[in-house]
Amino acid sequence: MHNTAAIVFRDGITRFVKVGANELLMDAAQRHGVNLPVDCREGVCGTCRCVRESGDVDVEYIDDETLTEEEVADGHVLACQTRLLSTQASFYFDVDSSVCSVATEVHNGKVSEVKQVSDAAAILEITLDDPLQALQYLPGQYARIEVPGTSAWRAYSFATATVKDGKLRFLIRLLPSGVMSDYLRKSAVVGDAISLEAPLGAFYLREVQRPLLMVAGGTGLSAFLGMLDQLENQGGMEQPIRLCYGVTQETDLSELDRLEAFTHSLSDFAYETIVMNPGDGWQGRKGVVCDLFSPDFLAQPFDAYLCGPPPMIEASKQWLETSDVGEYRLFFEKFISS
Ligand SMILES: Cc1cc2nc3c(=O)[nH]c(=O)nc-3n(C[C@H](O)[C@H](O)[C@H](O)COP(=O)(O)OP(=O)(O)OC[C@H]3O[C@@H](n4cnc5c(N)ncnc54)[C@H](O)[C@@H]3O)c2cc1C
Ligand code: FES
Repeated sequence: MHNTAAIVFRDGITRFVKVGANELLMDAAQRHGVNLPVDCREGVCGTCRCVRESGDVDVEYIDDETLTEEEVADGHVLACQTRLLSTQASFYFDVDSSVCSVATEVHNGKVSEVKQVSDAAAILEITLDDPLQALQYLPGQYARIEVPGTSAWRAYSFATATVKDGKLRFLIRLLPSGVMSDYLRKSAVVGDAISLEAPLGAFYLREVQRPLLMVAGGTGLSAFLGMLDQLENQGGMEQPIRLCYGVTQETDLSELDRLEAFTHSLSDFAYETIVMNPGDGWQGRKGVVCDLFSPDFLAQPFDAYLCGPPPMIEASKQWLETSDVGEYRLFFEKFISS
């Protein structure tokens, strides 16, 4: 029987390796061509240190001088001493993937659907040419997609938890003018060949041990659709989740049906929307996403995930830093333009 470990590097490149029963994480990684930093293999030098982000593990030995009690309490482990006890686990290594001879993987597929879901956003669905070619990623991570007919590559967060029937989905903002935006609006045709490089990024859902604040700006919602999908698939999620979703105009709101469905399938999920520049007929909240933050909800310890345009991320971070909130961990992905 094999378990699966996601190995995430500082530059966001991720590899998934099968770890046999009783096999050490270090050995499993090497078997897959991922040469993790290693020296003593005895739990003494600390060269193979990493952070367990999710999953259960058994750690054979850690020398007292190698990791402090606080580091161990924070999830630090040694790859040369770690075995997996759960079917899935993820580990963060604070080194670049290039140090471990890990190359990025390019996958080929075809455009199978382009659907405009609001005035300023479209869903791009890609069907992989070889559905058996494993493409694994952690929800929240992204792919770099080559815009067909050009040499330009653009980054997009996965909008589902896993590849489903060989298909990938992305929620993409349509700018008035832009390489990907123009392609999707004007020239995309079902069947177009399309390449992508994945998985990338250090923005992914950590083990959920406390309430979650999710903050989406515009198509930053995409990453959260993937994460919520994952929580729905896992089932049994008891922690409350609050998603605050801000857009510029009400016609930018996308995928509300999916969000509504999550309010039924997840035990304690709620979302609110807010619009910065609404038209006259808008009945909902007007303002910026921070106006939706609930001091009552945020009085308890929580994990905050922020995804979208840089100004929204900065404003949210500043709000959290300067407000009287509980202790929190912060994870964010800025949609910086290429
Ligand atoms: C890690 C990561 C993940 C991302 N995930 C997503 C995602 O899931 N969905 C998504 O829609 N986008 C996402 N983006 C942004 C995306 O990669 C592109 O930057 C965006 O889609 C614009 O591409 P384009 O080819 O249409 O425009 P471009 O040809 O890149 O740009 C055209 C013009 O518009 C400007 N511009 C670019 N972006 C913006 C913007 N946001 N607001 C105003 N002007 C802009 C450019 O400076 C340029 O002048 C992500 C970015 C990163 C770095
Ligand atoms: S290689 Fe020395 S502690 Fe793991």
